[in-house]
Order: sequence, then structure tokens, then C-alpha cells
Amino acid sequence: MLICYNYIMKNWLINKNVVVTGASSGIGKDITKILINKYNCFVVGVARNIDKLNDLKNSLGEQSNKFEFVSADVSKKEDWKKIKDFCNDKNITVLINNAGTMLPFTRADKVEDTDVERLFNVNFFSTIYGYKTFCEEFRKDKNCAIANIASVAAVTSLPGTSYYSASKSALCSFSKIIASEERKNFFIGTYLPGMTSTNLFTNKDNKKPVFDEKTGKLFNKFSTSSEKMAKKIVKCLAKKKRFKVLGKDAKLLKFLNSLMPIKSSDLYYNVMKKTKLSSFEDIF
Ligand SMILES: NC(=O)c1ccc[n+]([C@@H]2O[C@H](COP(=O)([O-])OP(=O)(O)OC[C@H]3O[C@@H](n4cnc5c(N)ncnc54)[C@H](OP(=O)(O)O)[C@@H]3O)[C@@H](O)[C@H]2O)c1
Repeated sequence: MLICYNYIMKNWLINKNVVVTGASSGIGKDITKILINKYNCFVVGVARNIDKLNDLKNSLGEQSNKFEFVSADVSKKEDWKKIKDFCNDKNITVLINNAGTMLPFTRADKVEDTDVERLFNVNFFSTIYGYKTFCEEFRKDKNCAIANIASVAAVTSLPGTSYYSASKSALCSFSKIIASEERKNFFIGTYLPGMTSTNLFTNKDNKKPVFDEKTGKLFNKFSTSSEKMAKKIVKCLAKKKRFKVLGKDAKLLKFLNSLMPIKSSDLYYNVMKKTKLSSFEDIF
């Protein structure tokens, strides 16, 4: 009986129809590949860049019929109507809110209000729109699920990332609370990755990249690969883990924060200043 229960618990994700936001790059792209290749899922990928979504479809070869995509801006409420309409006949039972963006490291007062709004619209409000778009349908089946991809930035305080960290903290609080409110209806998981090698730090939405080449190379040494992080996230979802910090660096940062909730931030500030890296110069 217990073996049977464990089998069902671990395999509930197989053959599901899933929406993955931010499927055109990085972690979302790798989550999509794992869901299709390992769990035999059908995936609707959401992102703005059609060429990248098309490239992903072509790269799937014989499995490409298990992937369809819709070009949408998840930060716009009206685009969720487009996503919902596209999914209308597809019996979607899992939503992975993964799309996200980051601003260059900058002291809070120097960041333009328009950039703050754009960041919160992508990282926080999109997950609210996603939840509200699917929650009514999902309440009809206990095997439905939402995974919200936050960041370790939600539980640490790195200077220069005030708005990114705040958007991910907001997402974390929201996600943990709706997970409790919906626990009798369907599953909601909150996952906090640490540093991962993706395009997040070079994306073209900002006037300048988050990292210059030198900083990028340095951070890559501590980063988890995108494939590995995606594997960890899918594993957590398959096991229905409600909350998980992922990656060695993330676990260390979370530990330091619990040990020194205020002082750790001052410590990072001093270390970042000493590095003299140009990616951090706007913090000081
Ligand atoms: N990389 C890390 O170190 C790290 C650490 C912790 C948490 N995370 C989180 O992990 C998630 C995935 O990021 P990543 O590292 O894989 O970065 P990435 O390679 O830059 O991927 C971001 C994805 O989000 C999509 N996206 C961005 N803005 C969008 C919008 N307005 N509408 C629709 N799609 C949008 C992008 O697609 P288009 O540009 O085609 O729209 C892209 O597919 C994010 O939520 C990020 O905050 C990353």
C-alpha cells in the first residue's frame, strides 16, 4: 500500500499538460526539455521571443509535437487572456511561473521608477495573473499544481539588488500564503534557486548588462548550470515539496542571513566594494 502511494506521489507529473513561462531561455527552457523528455509532458511555452521558442521546438526533434508556444508578455494582464485562450482546449493542469528579470547592481535611489515597475510587473505581478488565470480550473482536480520560481535573493540582502530582492520576497510571501489557502484544492510550490548560469545577467531589457565579462566569469565559478538547476526544480515539483532553497551557494547565503540578518548585508557591501568590479560601481 505504502509502495503504491509513493509510486503515485512520485509519478503524478507524468503525461501532464504544462504551461512554462520564460521557456525561451535558461532555467525555463531546461525545465521544458526535462518535462518533455523525462516526464512525457506536453508543454505550452510562454515568452516574448518567438525565434528562440521556435529554436527550442526544432531542437526537440521527434518530441517537437509535445511543444507548442505562445508569444506573450507575462507582465501584461491582457496577455494572460491570450495565454488562457491558447490553452483553452489543452487541459492544462500545471503552471510553472518561471519568467523573470533582473536589473544591473545599483544603489536603490539611482534606479528609475520605470525600471522598478517593469521589474515588479515581470517578477511579481505576472505570478498573480498566472495564479488568477488558472486557479478556478485547477480547483477541479487535486493533481493540479503551480510552481513559483523565486530566488535566494528573497532570503538574503545583497547590496545593489534592492528591487530584485524585494520583488522575489513579495513573490515568496504571496506563494507561501496561496499554497496554504489552496492546500485542499491543489498544490503550490515555492522554489528559491541560487546563482545559475543563464542569460539573466546579460539580457537585453536593460540599458547595460547586469554583469560585465569579468564579473560574469567570476560568478560562473560559483554558479550551478541551468540544466542542473532545472533538474532540482522539477524534482521538487515531482515530490510536491512546498518550499525549497536550491544550490550550495543559496543554502550558504540563507544560513548567513539567519546567523546575521543585518550584519551579513554590511559584510557583502564591504566585500563587493573591495573587489573593485565595474559591475558593482553604481552601488557606492
Ligand atoms: N539565473 C540565476 O542565477 C537565478 C537565480 C535565482 C532565481 N532565478 C530566477 O529564475 C527564473 C528564470 O531566469 P533565468 O535565470 O533562466 O534567466 P533567463 O535565461 O534570462 O530567462 C528568463 C526568461 O524569462 C522570459 N521573460 C522575461 N521577461 C518576460 C516577459 N515580460 N514576458 C514573458 N517572458 C519573459 C525570457 O523570455 P523572453 O526574453 O523571450 O521574453 C526568458 O525566457 C527567473 O524568475 C529568475 O529570477 C534565476
